[in-house]
Amino acid sequence: MKITLIVSGSIAAYKSAELVRELVKAGHDVHVVLTKGGAEFITSMTLQTLSGNPVTKDLFDEAREAQINHIRLADQAELVMVAPASANIIAKIANGLADDAATTVVLATKAPVLLAPAMNVNMWNNQVTQENVAKLKARGFHFVDPDVGSLACGWEGSGRLAELDSLMAGVERAKRKHDFSGVRIIVSAGPTREAIDPMRFISNRSSGKMGFSLAKKAWLRGAEVVLVSGPSREKVPPGVSYRAVVSAQEMQKEIFHALEAKPHEGIKKQYLIMAAAVCDHRPEKTASEKMKQKVKQGYSLSLIPNEDILATVSKERGRLEKHVGVPLRIVGFAAETGTEEEILEFAREKMQRKAVDMLVANSIALSAEQDTNEVVLLTPSGGEVKIGVASKENVADKILDTAWKL
Ligand code: CTP
Repeated sequence: MKITLIVSGSIAAYKSAELVRELVKAGHDVHVVLTKGGAEFITSMTLQTLSGNPVTKDLFDEAREAQINHIRLADQAELVMVAPASANIIAKIANGLADDAATTVVLATKAPVLLAPAMNVNMWNNQVTQENVAKLKARGFHFVDPDVGSLACGWEGSGRLAELDSLMAGVERAKRKHDFSGVRIIVSAGPTREAIDPMRFISNRSSGKMGFSLAKKAWLRGAEVVLVSGPSREKVPPGVSYRAVVSAQEMQKEIFHALEAKPHEGIKKQYLIMAAAVCDHRPEKTASEKMKQKVKQGYSLSLIPNEDILATVSKERGRLEKHVGVPLRIVGFAAETGTEEEILEFAREKMQRKAVDMLVANSIALSAEQDTNEVVLLTPSGGEVKIGVASKENVADKILDTAWKL
């Protein structure tokens, strides 16, 4: 892909060298535009050497301007990326200014534009910056939001240029078809852990892979994603808002919190995809101290049921839809054992009992702790889509293809 990369004036400009390397390694043809501010932090020689293409420095670069270089850079680009994007360049772009090569390219291009902000935390949190960002997001500009951490200016907080893998995922997302734009998806994943004492718990074999794959793919397809997960070793996908939980009760609280949050402007539909393997029971009492002697003697544990999160959300669908003002679609999972017919029979019964719009049925034997899955997608009207063995990422895309139609 031909990428025009604008490097603007932020200390994080030094990281653009790594970014150019990574983009070139991924097969992209990178053409850098270095703003005056950016040139204070990194040399054009570095970026030229790494990209293998001449670097454009400003609008009045006479020799190159003879070929109306900035328009060429805008026209040829399949993606314009601004990384790092300073508060200043964001403000200029939000207001349609075109007073240098970089902003002229952004104003003139028809390609998608991806911004990766990097600045001091107070500049990022300033209402005017947030308004500019919101304005650009509403106009279809793509963003890889900054990370939270220690900043070069000595402050702690949000404003650090996103990590390289998030920037690369942002590129991947910007070039895709966004069939899920305007959609907020809350995905639950992983197991829950129900504490017996400070050391011991009851849990299950869920790895979280299916839910994490769904969150990743939904974000790449343009959705705003909240991932609520029990303990998992999976890497949190870029762009996803992550809520780590431990117990079923915590998971329920976070899911309701996410479902009830006022959606951003432009969100037209909401989904809950319950891929988590929620423990059906929890110990009636959790000991506050480690139970040493009892374990040696043997003991019995009294378990009480956890609430069924999926069924509770379904029951409250009307209230939730009214509260947030957008329709809610509910997708459940059914992990079963047995023959194929038995699995489908249990799953159909579960779909009715929990009143969901779609149920993903799978066999525990084929899915738990595996990288692949084999599922059947059921809808209340009797619809049945069989998905043969595939990677969990590919299965996630297939689930989203069907969920999109709900
Ligand atoms: N689920 C839930 N809350 C629970 C238990 C399950 O929200 N307390 C959800 C799961 O996330 C999944 C669906 O319900 O989307 C089905 O989960 P599963 O474990 O297959 O079914 P159960 O309802 O637990 O029924 P059973 O154990 O009898 O098969």
